[in-house]
Order: sequence, then C-alpha cells, then structure tokens
Amino acid sequence: MKRDLLTILDLSTAEIMQLLGRAAALKTLHKKGRDPKPLAGKTLALIFDKPSTRTRVSFEAGIAHLGGTTIYLGRTDSQLSRNEPIADTARVLARYVDGIVIRTFGQEIVVEMARYADIPVINGLTDSHHPCQVLSDLQTVQERFGRVTDLKIAWIGDGNNMANSWITAALRLNFSLYLACPPGYDPDPALMEQARQLGRPIYLKDDPVWAVQDAQVINTDVWASMGQEGEARERQQAFLPYQVNDDLLRQADPQAIVLHCLPAHRGEEITGEVLEGPQAAVWDQAENRLHLQKALLEWLLGAV
Ligand code: CP
Ligand code: NVA
Repeated sequence: MKRDLLTILDLSTAEIMQLLGRAAALKTLHKKGRDPKPLAGKTLALIFDKPSTRTRVSFEAGIAHLGGTTIYLGRTDSQLSRNEPIADTARVLARYVDGIVIRTFGQEIVVEMARYADIPVINGLTDSHHPCQVLSDLQTVQERFGRVTDLKIAWIGDGNNMANSWITAALRLNFSLYLACPPGYDPDPALMEQARQLGRPIYLKDDPVWAVQDAQVINTDVWASMGQEGEARERQQAFLPYQVNDDLLRQADPQAIVLHCLPAHRGEEITGEVLEGPQAAVWDQAENRLHLQKALLEWLLGAV
C-alpha cells in the first residue's frame, strides 16, 4: 500500500530512525559521487502554492541524483488555479507520475490530495506542518550530538507549522521539547493535548529563558509565516522578547546549536551575530534537506 508523509505522525519511531540512518548513508555516498539510481524512470510532481528555495531545489536535485525527474507546477500553472477540484487533480496526476510533493495553505488540502491519489503524497509545508524540514533537522541533531534522544530541545517564537512539526517529532522520539510562544501564538492545542494525555515531556510557556535554560538545541523561525504578511507589524510587537540573541544563547548549554529552517530575518527572530556565529548549524541544516528527502523518496517511491 502506498504511504504518505502529511505529518511526522504518519511515521513510526522505527521508520524515523531508519530514514535518519539512510539519509546519513546517502549523504556519504553523494559526497563520494556514488549516488544510487533506484528511481530511474520515476517522476515526481511538485505542486507549490507558496514560494520556496530549499524545498523545491532539494527535491528537484535529490530525485535527479537518484535517477528520477520532476515536473514543477507553480501557483498559476495548473487548473487548480481555476478551481479544478483537488480530488480530480489527484486522480489525474496519479496516472502520470509516481509521487506528489505539495506546498500549500490548509492541511486539509494535502489530506484530500493523499486521499484521492493512489501514489505517495509528501507535505512540502502547509500552514500547520513542515514534516520534511523537521525530519532533516533531526538528521542535523543526530550528526552534532550522535543521538536524537535525551536532549533538551527548545522552540522560541511562533507556535507555527514548524513548532507543530517539532511537537509531532517529540511525540515519536524521546527528547524533551520546551516551547516558548507569546500569548495568543500557541501551537496546535490538539497536539499539546495529545502530548499531555500520553505524558510526553512537551512543555509550553511564554518564557524564552525558561525554554533555553541548559538546552542543547535552540530553534526559531520567522515571526510572520507565508500568508501572514498582513499581520507582520502586530506580530513584531508581540515577538520582540522572543529574539534569539547572544544574551538568550548564554542561558543554554555551552555546546548548544541553533537551528533556523530559513529564510531568516536578521534583527527580528534571530540576530545576525547568532546566525553567523559558531553555534549556528543552519547551513548543515539546509543541506540535510537534500539527504533526508532522498531517503524519503527512495523509501516512498522506490517500492511503488
Ligand atoms: N525551510 C524551507 O522550507 O525553505 P523554503 O521555503 O525555501 O523551501
Ligand atoms: N514558518 C515558515 C517556514 C518557512 C520555511 C512559513 O511557513 O513561512
């Protein structure tokens, strides 16, 4: 049966660990110029309703390394822009291609796509989740610390798609997650409730110092996500105390790394000093999108 990646909860703990292991192996093979070609003859459709640098290019380059190819459909390229139903688009694309990556607004759109397409559907970011990014970030954590468990991971800022995906990762893996979000900008309450019911070490307050205290991984993201440009000014006021700067970083474990999925706004959610400083792991983090997604494509499309 086909598998999708709509949120990290679509994966078991064992599957996440397997992907991380394979991503590391594919990274080594790529550096030696020995990419395997298991996806020769396979085609991936990329449906993007929002802009992208990393997600688009890492998927396009990644499947090319593995022998496959892509078809990119931007916001105005397909009949979706003229209201052709998702369900119809899904069934037609599934007759042509072997997998779909979709970046869009509501999570319900990717759910609908996956329901009607009998090929794997991968969430390339919605308003609610960004699973490919957080899986890649786990690869970076694994590289830096040799493990993804028994760590204190902090999330500072908006309770957005990235924060939600970190919560889903913490529901599957044994690390503790401390989220500091301004009042009114909390992550998905249903995920927080799931964490509470399962007794997972996932905590939420509005206090960034509490969240980063002795943490090994500090995460942040833009204050206004794609689609929220109109709220940017009011968000700036609310988020000012949540900037990841040298003062905040001093509260963390001295070996802590700083992650940001990028694009970053220097002087807003993160200072230029921190982003360019020795503790930032953002370039490795961006690179790992490529390797982790290759492992994902190999797994999801290779068996089809
Ligand atoms: N981090 C990330 O998803 O970047 P893009 O918006 O450039 O794809
Ligand atoms: N939260 C950001 C992530 C960008 C990769 C957004 O949705 O715009």
